[in-house]
Amino acid sequence: MEVIATKRLSESLGAEVLDIDRDRLLSDDALPGACLEALDVNGVLLFRGLHLDDATQVAFCKRLGEVVSVASHPIPEITVISLDPKNPLADYFRGAFEWHLDGSMDDIPSKASLLTAHVIDEEGGDTEFASTYAAYENLSEDDKQRCQSVRVVHTFEASQRRMHPDPTPEQLADWRARPSKEHPLVWEHETGRRSLVLGVTASHVVGMDLEEGRDLLDDLLARATAPSQVFRHVWSVGDTVIWDNRGVLHRACPYEATSPREMHRTTLVGEEAIK
Ligand code: OGA
Ligand code: MN
Repeated sequence: MEVIATKRLSESLGAEVLDIDRDRLLSDDALPGACLEALDVNGVLLFRGLHLDDATQVAFCKRLGEVVSVASHPIPEITVISLDPKNPLADYFRGAFEWHLDGSMDDIPSKASLLTAHVIDEEGGDTEFASTYAAYENLSEDDKQRCQSVRVVHTFEASQRRMHPDPTPEQLADWRARPSKEHPLVWEHETGRRSLVLGVTASHVVGMDLEEGRDLLDDLLARATAPSQVFRHVWSVGDTVIWDNRGVLHRACPYEATSPREMHRTTLVGEEAIK
């Protein structure tokens, strides 16, 4: 018998893991491996209504791999995602409204992230996911060839410009003081799979006319995130979702800054640089 039963959630990615309770998350020795395998296959896993408390969430994540410690919360592995102005990271989290990979400016982006819904928004605040493995696979052979040697510069400025299209000189200077990061467009994973490295931080293409490079990036992102390629999760309180951050773009759907929406997040340490 399979260790976990799953149900597809969309044509392209996402699966619900069925019949799991909190005790099994912590005690079933076969479960972590089965979840990681299902995550590889499906890109996103949904556990409905688990109502994980922070300690259980962290304990489960530690069974999946090394967990990032952020220390902004009494439990250092938990980050509270909310736009509450009292949250020092609120402005940073506004960047999540655009398609992105977490840590796309890091040497090694995180392996996976896990969110549990504690308070949901009445109107918005769904989360959308799109596979960048599928984005690569869906290219024509010509396009695959064309993308193979392309290198892309990722900048903090590119991500901020979407939220602040008319920056002050001070804002610009601050953004430009941050280091940029160059990545190949096609990530050749150690598994042999390939994915496209896209998202809000992608600024321009090395050695290509600025407009032409942006058109290429915009076109690839539009194809990767076409409605037929997207899984959208409408949250209920207590749902937990994990995504494979190496091969899945995600974004939050709009919700007001005054919303009580609150997600608790844990992040698995990445193991592989983009190359
Ligand atoms: C994140 C993120 C999206 C959301 O936690 O990295 O992008 O819907 N969250 O809150
Ligand atoms: Mn994110």
